Amino acid sequence: MSDTQQKTIYLKDYTVPEFLISHTTLHFNLSADDTVVRSKLSIQRNPACKKASPNLTLMGEDLELISIAIDGQELSSEDYTLNEQTLTITQSADEFILEISNRINPVSNTALSGLYESKKMLCTQCEAEGFRRITWYLDRPDVMSVFDVTMEADINLYPVLLSNGNRADSGTLDNNKHWVSWQDPFPKPSYLFALVAGDLACLTDSFTTCSNQHVKLEVYVEEHDLDKTQHAMQSLKNAMRWDEEAFGREYDLDVYMIVAVSHFNMGAMENKGLNVFNTKYVLASEKTATDTDFENIEAVIGHEYFHNWSGNRVTCRDWFQLSLKEGFTVFRDQQFTAHQTSNAVKRIKDVNMLRTHQFAEDAGPLSHPIRPDSFVEINNFYTLTIYEKGAEVVRMLHTLLGNAGFRKGCDLYFERHDGQAVTTDDFVKALEDANDTDFTQFKNWYKQAGTPVVDVSTEYNANEKTYTLTFEQHCPVTPGQATKDNFLIPISIGLLDESGQEIPLGDGQTTVVLALTDSEQRFTFDNINAKPTPSILRSFSAPIQLNHALPIAQKIHLFQHDSDTFNRWEAGQNTLSQLIFDSVEAIQNKQTLPSLPDALIEAFRSILQQPLNDLAYQALLLSLPSKAYLAEQMIVIDIDALYQAHHAVKKALSAALSPLWLSNYNAYHQVDAGITAQDIAQRSFKNLCLDYLMAQQDAATVTLCTAQFDAAQNMTDQIAALSQLNHTESPQSAPYFDAFYQQWQTEDLVIDKWFALQACSEKSNALDDVKRLLQHPDFDMKTPNRVRSVISTFAMANPLHFNAADGSGYAFIADNIIALDAINPQVAARLANSLSRWKKLDTQRQQLVKQQLSRIQSQTPLSKDVLEIVTRSLAA
Ligand code: TRP
Ligand code: ZN
Repeated sequence: MSDTQQKTIYLKDYTVPEFLISHTTLHFNLSADDTVVRSKLSIQRNPACKKASPNLTLMGEDLELISIAIDGQELSSEDYTLNEQTLTITQSADEFILEISNRINPVSNTALSGLYESKKMLCTQCEAEGFRRITWYLDRPDVMSVFDVTMEADINLYPVLLSNGNRADSGTLDNNKHWVSWQDPFPKPSYLFALVAGDLACLTDSFTTCSNQHVKLEVYVEEHDLDKTQHAMQSLKNAMRWDEEAFGREYDLDVYMIVAVSHFNMGAMENKGLNVFNTKYVLASEKTATDTDFENIEAVIGHEYFHNWSGNRVTCRDWFQLSLKEGFTVFRDQQFTAHQTSNAVKRIKDVNMLRTHQFAEDAGPLSHPIRPDSFVEINNFYTLTIYEKGAEVVRMLHTLLGNAGFRKGCDLYFERHDGQAVTTDDFVKALEDANDTDFTQFKNWYKQAGTPVVDVSTEYNANEKTYTLTFEQHCPVTPGQATKDNFLIPISIGLLDESGQEIPLGDGQTTVVLALTDSEQRFTFDNINAKPTPSILRSFSAPIQLNHALPIAQKIHLFQHDSDTFNRWEAGQNTLSQLIFDSVEAIQNKQTLPSLPDALIEAFRSILQQPLNDLAYQALLLSLPSKAYLAEQMIVIDIDALYQAHHAVKKALSAALSPLWLSNYNAYHQVDAGITAQDIAQRSFKNLCLDYLMAQQDAATVTLCTAQFDAAQNMTDQIAALSQLNHTESPQSAPYFDAFYQQWQTEDLVIDKWFALQACSEKSNALDDVKRLLQHPDFDMKTPNRVRSVISTFAMANPLHFNAADGSGYAFIADNIIALDAINPQVAARLANSLSRWKKLDTQRQQLVKQQLSRIQSQTPLSKDVLEIVTRSLAA
């Protein structure tokens, strides 16, 4: 079976394209099960290519050829070679017109790459290599072409016909058909091509750019979802304004369109002028979407919008450069969200996600640099490392250059490379040139995988009044990289005196950025009058593992006083983590659990008695580190002991401060609150209070919780209450789940939440419940959101049952990876990631996971997507 071949592609083998396509004209005769595509390509030899090969090789997959012509001359089958992946034409002219006609079948396309059907609409997904599933093409990002597109379709089934760029013309035809044509003046790679056809409702608005250009804004959804598009539209306008103000980037077409589709492999796609979105990142009303959903929608809309410059106007030379657009654009969307919400809260959420999930990826067999050296299936490289670590690397450049220097560098990058397909080296070079600096060592962040470890020790010299910090760095071995060069690590620090005040350092600054470049390096501060408490790695200035043994009293001191909001939170988290790990050890040794340190209770008490201005930040300050984050810190994960310890610490904090949790709950619980920033912050804090109160499982609190459910006017409160009832063994929770289903059965995105909650239940029979959910009439293996809500949630968010000692969780996931692979390899491969971290488990469980990986590996047929993941997972 040819698609199981593991052909590795290497960055070092990159060569410029032999041919270019200056102009692409496409004609689509659309129908759900039989679409005819006619392409007309203006092809030239690439002057930058030294080779003069007589062959033009185009990529194509799952296509049925109708005809080929060159310069109007139809070719016969001796003139070309067709195989499963390519079409090769012998052609020695320097310039010619190639016309191809082929047939595709959108309904049979369950992989959701290329042209496919979702509900009753037709839409495309071309990144990374989906365009070759539409027609034969030079489907690589460094071949950029101007596209003209004409679509023809049934006017009743597909009254709306969209493609990239500006609307050009339209008309009607016989047999109830009509046509629309589009022109995109900006040359683009084929991965940014899109079309949409359907019976769609549209919310329209407009935006006037900084240079007074009028842009139409259009959000397309199914008719019954039109009432849930306001927030998406507002988010788009916010993003457009912010990109002008923060980066000087203006929009460049007459229209900006967003289409929401129910079937989508990822979050959203930045196709030029025509973004296609997973409905999850468009549709929201207070009743159906949580505060987190609202925030995620604004972030993803921003992300795709920002790609118009970081990705589209300046694109990637090849897929090894993926982080050029993704890391940079995530950095941009993070800054945007921080600006729209709270800097402190956004930074903590981003770091939490990075350390819980990206650090795990980087410590396992799938670890890779943000600019990988090789891949088998590019779809497997849309990873947390490329996106989140990539954003951290851009953030470090921002920290090292300062905001003004970074902005100068970005301006030069956009100006120098507008209309080009470039590399991460080009990006760094623009920042260097604009700031007259040298980032040679910094570039190790692009080349080397793994999370660097930095050990810190400190020394106060009372006679000389000096304070010295000594740093040591090393980086663990990762696949294919046994030794590493030192990183340039920006370490932001401050020092606190015993009253909690910041000590001025150097020029009166209270925060300085140290550049760690060697394997061991010392930094000394003068005029320090008494032994300070150090606040190291402020704002999490580098994506590293920092080891710094600080006595608990000093941690609490930082937790009470640090002016750096990130490190203040971090000090609390460290204290709580230590307590939970001490409890894990006690549980493992069958000893009594340690009691809560008084200083910690007092610190919590003082915060609860005198709430901060930023209640969302306060909720994070008082939250326990997640079990997933803690599991990542354990050498061998003992999931049962971790759950017990986590629960015990929560219960103890609950009991020690119970009147305060209750009074704060009552003070901030407001049934009819709206969605202002203040309302959202109050809700997150109030629901944290409920979480602590529910640790007691006493009748009064359960009543409080069910009352919140019954009275809820918004999804945040309703789901917060329901998730509290999710883990109880008693049959009393079932009626609430039934009521929730009855209320929301026509809302797919809400039903996804209903499935997901049950999939992460701690109840002893959770796996049986999950298996039953797969038989539910609303479950559908062809809908990625549904698959993710049940199967992926179980694998990634239910470590207790996924890691069941008998291996039943692993077997269940393996069965479903195999079943899903035949339908949608991309989503199946993503699910297979959950089986990669077996080295963190005990030997018994390691064997059980490896058995399942081998079982998957031996399946035929198996996609190269899944085969690559299981092969790399087993190779470790
Ligand atoms: N470029 C998209 C983004 O980051 C990611 C994406 C959307 C994607 N759909 C995809 C990647 C399908 C691979 C396959 O916004
Ligand atoms: Zn992106």
